[in-house]
Amino acid sequence: MGHLSFACCTGRIINFLSNFFSTSVGVDVSDNMLEVAKKNAGPHSMFLNVDLTSEKHLNDKKFDLITAFRFFPNAQEDLRNATAKTLIGLLKNEGLLVANLHTNYGSIRLRIFRFLRFFSKVKAPDFGVSMNEFEKNFTDNGFEIVEKVGVGIFPETEERIFPIRSLVKFFETFCMKLPVLVPYSENIIYLFKKKSG
Ligand SMILES: C[S@@+](CC[C@H](N)C(=O)[O-])C[C@H]1O[C@@H](n2cnc3c(N)ncnc32)[C@H](O)[C@@H]1O
Repeated sequence: MGHLSFACCTGRIINFLSNFFSTSVGVDVSDNMLEVAKKNAGPHSMFLNVDLTSEKHLNDKKFDLITAFRFFPNAQEDLRNATAKTLIGLLKNEGLLVANLHTNYGSIRLRIFRFLRFFSKVKAPDFGVSMNEFEKNFTDNGFEIVEKVGVGIFPETEERIFPIRSLVKFFETFCMKLPVLVPYSENIIYLFKKKSG
């Protein structure tokens, strides 16, 4: 079984998952990030500094699982499209892609930011990608959605200032089980497969 970690960065995902795969390939365009990833790499892992969207690499390989975390919402539209096209070519017919939308525009936190910007002088940040935009990038390029799970209903800051962490964890674990809350979650994890037919 083979796993490709696209935009693997410091290896957070590949180095966790490599225990479950006979081959793990991490791809990123930053040597510095790959150096960190290699320090904690499993025995069957390899790392490549290539831009798969423009360079012909791994052409003969097909993967059972491809992961792409915290990449798509940060990339511009052209790169998002080129990446989705590339990844579908690297996925086995029965393979799965897991990608996340970590800055969901409809999340409670980003709604609060927009409210503050509109009704007060608070300089709250303005960012985010909508679920529609994120999903279209994949469905336009041959993928279909199998499942989506939302995490991050509680409106946190990067500093995680709410002190009772166990309470936040309990609340989030409960919310993750409610599909109705997915559109209000800040981080949505998608499972995609190739479109059938
Ligand atoms: C936010 S990090 C990804 C984090 C990582 N996937 C994780 O969840 O821990 C974004 C990464 O994308 C990489 N990147 C940017 N453009 C890329 C491209 N065309 N191909 C591969 N990686 C790229 C950057 O070098 C950076 O390491």
